Amino acid sequence: MSFSRRDFLTTTALGSLALGLDAQGRNPERKNGGQSAESHPGAGAGKRPIMVCANNGFAYLDRGYEHLSKGGDTLDSAILVVTGPEDDPKDDSVGYGGLPNEEGVVELDACCMHGPTRRAGSVGGVRNIKNVSKVSKAVMEHTGHVMLVGEGAERFAVAMGFPREDLLTERSRKIWLLWKEYHSSRDWWGPGLADPHWQAPEPTGERKPRAELWRERVNQLARRAADLGIEREFCLAAAHRIIFPPTGTIHCSALNEKGEMSGITTTSGLAFKLPGRCGDSPIIGAGCYTDQDVGSAGATGSGEENIKVAGAHTIVENMRHGMSPHDAGMDALKRIVRNYNNDMTKLRFMDMTYYILRKDGAYAGVSLWEGYSEGNPHKIAVHDGSKRSEETAHLFKGYSQEFPPFPKIPDALKKESEYLK
Ligand code: GLY
Repeated sequence: MSFSRRDFLTTTALGSLALGLDAQGRNPERKNGGQSAESHPGAGAGKRPIMVCANNGFAYLDRGYEHLSKGGDTLDSAILVVTGPEDDPKDDSVGYGGLPNEEGVVELDACCMHGPTRRAGSVGGVRNIKNVSKVSKAVMEHTGHVMLVGEGAERFAVAMGFPREDLLTERSRKIWLLWKEYHSSRDWWGPGLADPHWQAPEPTGERKPRAELWRERVNQLARRAADLGIEREFCLAAAHRIIFPPTGTIHCSALNEKGEMSGITTTSGLAFKLPGRCGDSPIIGAGCYTDQDVGSAGATGSGEENIKVAGAHTIVENMRHGMSPHDAGMDALKRIVRNYNNDMTKLRFMDMTYYILRKDGAYAGVSLWEGYSEGNPHKIAVHDGSKRSEETAHLFKGYSQEFPPFPKIPDALKKESEYLK
């Protein structure tokens, strides 16, 4: 049996977990990108006002921070950040242009918590409404409920004046079609027998090495993406989305000078999901949780795993009991690992990043894996008067999307807002 680099790293990481060491023998809790135990233990206060968010919010942090620092409401400031990706057709993990469900329909989830008034709002599985972050705030402000889902949530949004719009962009529709065709040897979606692209299923007993099979598959996908009319420079990225259906999302937490805080999370959820599937993003306590007395936290990544550990709530409760933001997040990650009895053959197929802000301005970004792939580390975006992206601290050394093997996407084809964040 051959051992890939990833096998080595994950096996090492498994052994290291018990020791509290990363694959290079260091204490991972001390190697916390920008916020290490030495440099930012969470024991000392940070600056206020401050905002933290997932890195796809980086471009929109300025406008949120400006509002916050001029005395604007913490939730409104966070909404100014997350509506950036919601409105951006090229961010295919959030709002307009999000990758659709298995039937080709975009369904969005969001939730928010407003610290100063200790209120919450949430919507799940919403179709045809772009800014579900704002709809979750409307549920909070204009109903006696906390959560609305599906058709009822859409009707409520329309009643509140939100426009009904088709959220499926041409690019996302073509990626969805590519995904349908990927399963072609088992269904009637193209290419059919008469199509020049048709290929006989791999004969059993004559299997090629796995890496070679994957290389062929990726090349076929990229070629087919071009045939479907996907821009040439995006074809490899489109193939990547089929092999690794993204769970991208945006969370933002905001803290003002007075110590008021709010959090919000919004997403199009797991690409190609079953219709009606809700991930962690609309679940108060999983995708987002804010307690005015303690702090705020939010998540991006494998929603099903995060729901089972009530990640954001767990982190805020950990901080209430004295843990630093970093340690509070690492504990939540370890609960995910424990749910799989440390089984790395399964843990390598999931990922999770937490964005954590304590009431005194201390913050941390922590993730299960180092990044998506080499050169694509997980990051937290921060604004406290100076805007920056910092690599998150990670529990495991290695990358969540290293298997199946995927060719390195040339830098020239990789645009931050269009590929991996
Ligand atoms: N974390 C986003 C989702 O799983 O839907």
